[in-house]
Amino acid sequence: MTAIRSVVLGCGSYLPERVLTNAELATKIDTSDEWIVQRTGIRERHIAADDEFTSHLAIKAARAALAHARLDAQAIDLIVLATSTPDNTFPATAVAVQHGLGISHGAAFDLQAVCSGFVFALATADNFLRAGAYKRALVIGAETFSRILDWDDRGTCVLFGDGAGAVVLEAQQQQAGNASDRGVLTTHLRSDGRHKSKLFVDGGPGSTRTVGHLRMEGREVFKHAVGMITDVIVDAFNATGITAENIDWFIPHQANKRIIDASAHKLHIAPQKVVLTVDKHGNTSAASIPLALAVAVKDGRVKKGDLLLLEAMGGGFTWGSALLRW
Ligand code: UT7
Repeated sequence: MTAIRSVVLGCGSYLPERVLTNAELATKIDTSDEWIVQRTGIRERHIAADDEFTSHLAIKAARAALAHARLDAQAIDLIVLATSTPDNTFPATAVAVQHGLGISHGAAFDLQAVCSGFVFALATADNFLRAGAYKRALVIGAETFSRILDWDDRGTCVLFGDGAGAVVLEAQQQQAGNASDRGVLTTHLRSDGRHKSKLFVDGGPGSTRTVGHLRMEGREVFKHAVGMITDVIVDAFNATGITAENIDWFIPHQANKRIIDASAHKLHIAPQKVVLTVDKHGNTSAASIPLALAVAVKDGRVKKGDLLLLEAMGGGFTWGSALLRW
């Protein structure tokens, strides 16, 4: 039985030039490289230049993804951009990206699910492609979290970084119609607004008329993370018959190495199958999964036919998983 699947044609990423190390942070606030590495696994992060906006990072990642896919931008008819740090309140950063790529057909919109944004955007684009509404999509995660951090709050400012990653998806007829197909095999999204005050930004156009700063009850987020992540991965396994042993690469949201290790351990995913970039990138929110994916594709780990498991959890809370065959 054939099925339409969203097949990944290419991926790409962009990180701002400026690297901020733990040692440099320790000269400004009461923290240490040792504390940050031990509690999070983070060693450094990239910070956007003053004149570098989320759309600029996103355009560079999108161009890299298009080049990897050997595709002209005109072939794209859908852009879904996940971000919590848009250039402006409106219009969507996605239309700035669309314009920057020279596209004026199809649709482009932003999607906001904080750190789960890329998985939510991938699921959204996948549903549009499988429904036949569009043919080729750019799915982008792009963030400049450095702009919403309280640089005096050591509990949060050491955790985040800036960056962007993108994938190009194409609707393709696959022959088997089962888990051996290439493309996105299943996606599972969840939210629970009861947790909305555990990780939030204390400003917004509709309330304070300001941008605000990120606030987090870190320990509370940590407490829920592993259970939520593993639940939604089990949903993906149950929907497809795929098990942890079948996974070639686990590409999780990169918030904290301890959360990633604990999730992989609970799911019996071997440590050598886990793609880790949190040490170099910090938590780049919606950008973290495509940034990690681009690293593993570029260094040759991810090969055609490999089975990839993606997951994320973040503010809201929101959480989600995706299984895809490369
Ligand atoms: O991507 C969205 C999802 N977000 C997350 O997944 C983040 C989840 N949370 C976490 O990753 C962890 O909770 C943190 C890394 C944020 C914190 O680690 P923790 O082990 O939960 O530490 P804690 O918040 O319980 O703080 C322990 C101690 C505190 O001192 P006292 O009260 O025990 O004296 C903090 O004040 O560490 C202190 N502390 C720091 N010390 C040095 C907090 N931040 C720092 C810091 N440097 N940067």
